[in-house]
Amino acid sequence: MKVLNIGSMNLDHVYSVDHIIQPGETEATGQVTLYLGGKGMNQSCALAKAGVEVYQGGMIGDDGQPFLEACNEYGVHSDFIETVDDKTGHTIIQIDKHAQNSILLYGGANQRLTEAYVDSVLSHFEAKDILLLQNEVNLLPYIVDKAYEKGMQIALNPSPFNEKLDGVDMNKISIFLLNEVEGKQLTGFTDSQSILSEMRSRFPHARIVLTLGVDGAIYSDEEHQYFQPSFPVKAVDTTAAGDTFTGYFLAGLAEGLGISQILKMAAKASAIAVTRAGAVPSIPYRSEVEEALKE
Ligand code: RIB
Repeated sequence: MKVLNIGSMNLDHVYSVDHIIQPGETEATGQVTLYLGGKGMNQSCALAKAGVEVYQGGMIGDDGQPFLEACNEYGVHSDFIETVDDKTGHTIIQIDKHAQNSILLYGGANQRLTEAYVDSVLSHFEAKDILLLQNEVNLLPYIVDKAYEKGMQIALNPSPFNEKLDGVDMNKISIFLLNEVEGKQLTGFTDSQSILSEMRSRFPHARIVLTLGVDGAIYSDEEHQYFQPSFPVKAVDTTAAGDTFTGYFLAGLAEGLGISQILKMAAKASAIAVTRAGAVPSIPYRSEVEEALKE
């Protein structure tokens, strides 16, 4: 079983701020750092660092060379990444003194996928392979339809949640990985149990993973529900915590581990990620996660 991730690659410009800037306000910052990120790239790196073979698809511009180098470094297959005549996606991220963030996203090359490109990438995969998607690239409805026709298992992290998801046939999704905010946007409910009940009744055959930040995570399928508490840590940067959870969760599934073991591993990986700055560089290797789980 192969894992394909058609997703974003963003150059994250991360600014340390006292507080997240308010409308009309000017705030000085003395520190800016450039990290590799993008939900697609982060999740592929998490899968690879967890030890699973993963293929990253998507578009970069001429300034996106560092993504190819990072794929090489972390063992992510990069053959399906194409370079287009546009800027690589980028973000402006503010991190405040409580490690909260706010993210301004410029899609750039991430929004340049074509149907011909999608067809060509999908032709290398077959039924039962996993396709992982987030909502930072264009053509999601098309990608979902085509992958479903092939019988692929589609895992969707509907993040960021916006109107571009409207055209996606959610009945074709096998695994939803979402946080409480996205759960609320998708179902209209605010508390976790109501979100899950609504998701279960709308998508009875799907596996659902609802992450709740410091309150842990809940997994639900047709027969079982599991709760995983979070591991308490002092956070410095929560960027990519959810991506780390998603990557590690799917890695565990691809390996055929039991759900409670998968949840524990994903929660520990994401707890480690928030203690480190940046997106891609904050994601721990499997050996670090396993070592930390022994403590
Ligand atoms: O989920 C974190 C990611 O969201 C960041 O790396 C940033 O690029 C945005 O896409």
